[in-house]
Amino acid sequence: MRERDESTTIAVTTPTGHVGSRVVRLLLQAGVRPRVLVRDPARLDEATRARVDVRRGDLTDAGFVREAVAGVRTVFWVDPTPHTTADPIETSLRTAAPLVEAARAGDVGRVVLLSSIGAEKRHGVGHIDALAGIEEQLDATGVDGVLHLRCAYFFTNLLLDLEGLSRGVLTTAFDPDHPMPWVDPRDIGDVVAARLLSDTWRGRVVQAVHGPEDLTFHQVAQTLTEALGRPIRLDPVGDDAARDALRAAGLPPSAVEGIVGMTTGSRGLVAEQPRDLLTTTPTPLSGWAHAQLRPLLKG
Ligand SMILES: NC(=O)c1ccc[n+]([C@@H]2O[C@H](COP(=O)([O-])OP(=O)(O)OC[C@H]3O[C@@H](n4cnc5c(N)ncnc54)[C@H](OP(=O)(O)O)[C@@H]3O)[C@@H](O)[C@H]2O)c1
Repeated sequence: MRERDESTTIAVTTPTGHVGSRVVRLLLQAGVRPRVLVRDPARLDEATRARVDVRRGDLTDAGFVREAVAGVRTVFWVDPTPHTTADPIETSLRTAAPLVEAARAGDVGRVVLLSSIGAEKRHGVGHIDALAGIEEQLDATGVDGVLHLRCAYFFTNLLLDLEGLSRGVLTTAFDPDHPMPWVDPRDIGDVVAARLLSDTWRGRVVQAVHGPEDLTFHQVAQTLTEALGRPIRLDPVGDDAARDALRAAGLPPSAVEGIVGMTTGSRGLVAEQPRDLLTTTPTPLSGWAHAQLRPLLKG
């Protein structure tokens, strides 16, 4: 076991991501020098790079992760596995394995895991099953503290089809009439940073991050129409059409099922945790869409 009893080190994975970048910013503003695990430090802005402890490497490199998290008090773990990867569930679990091993060995004090709504089902939710598996593996390590942040559907998922939105079309395979929680990843970063900085929690904690309100896809299209100042029409597609489109884009069968499974497994899903003071975050979709999405659309 490494010397970590006196350690207050905080390690952040994916510091260039939507959530991770916000976490790093808040830690710096709190006077902390976080350790960041980053594959290309040049993707951090210069001011940030100068203030963090850079550990350069790929999160799929087990030796790198094992070494980089050793002796750390609290690790923020984001599964970096793209949904497009072949065998996404196995890849996510394999990528997290060195963190789990470090936690089991007592080389890590606490872990904050970026998990997802749906992980509570454990199986049948496509690639989200991997987050459920990582939750269970971390639970079994006996680590001092593990926090599973079961996050809602990210606003930033809308950035994946800028071309469609530029044409005025929002395509989804989700049930268009089913309300589900939507969240700004930046607000998730706020919750993560607060938890990383607090030394008061221990044991196993599950906390949802539901964003400000539940929305159906019809309501999302309406909100976007108003916030973007252009008509956005919802185009609901069935599972088979979604599969065909993903196959046509060249995705391997396991990735196709990992993605389609996230929508089929979420059908009718009601979040395990209620919307309340702890799980609600402030940024509305309308404000995000106006500030972040509108400048990115063509035409
Ligand atoms: N989208 C949703 O609705 C949703 C809901 C719940 C939970 N989640 C979880 O949220 C996470 C994504 O968070 P995000 O949106 O903040 O991320 P993001 O903005 O999509 O960024 C991905 C991050 O992963 C890094 N990365 C990718 N592959 C890597 C590798 N092999 N080694 C090291 N770093 C790697 C990227 O670094 P580079 O800068 O080097 O590319 C980047 O920092 C996923 O784990 C997902 O399961 C998502």
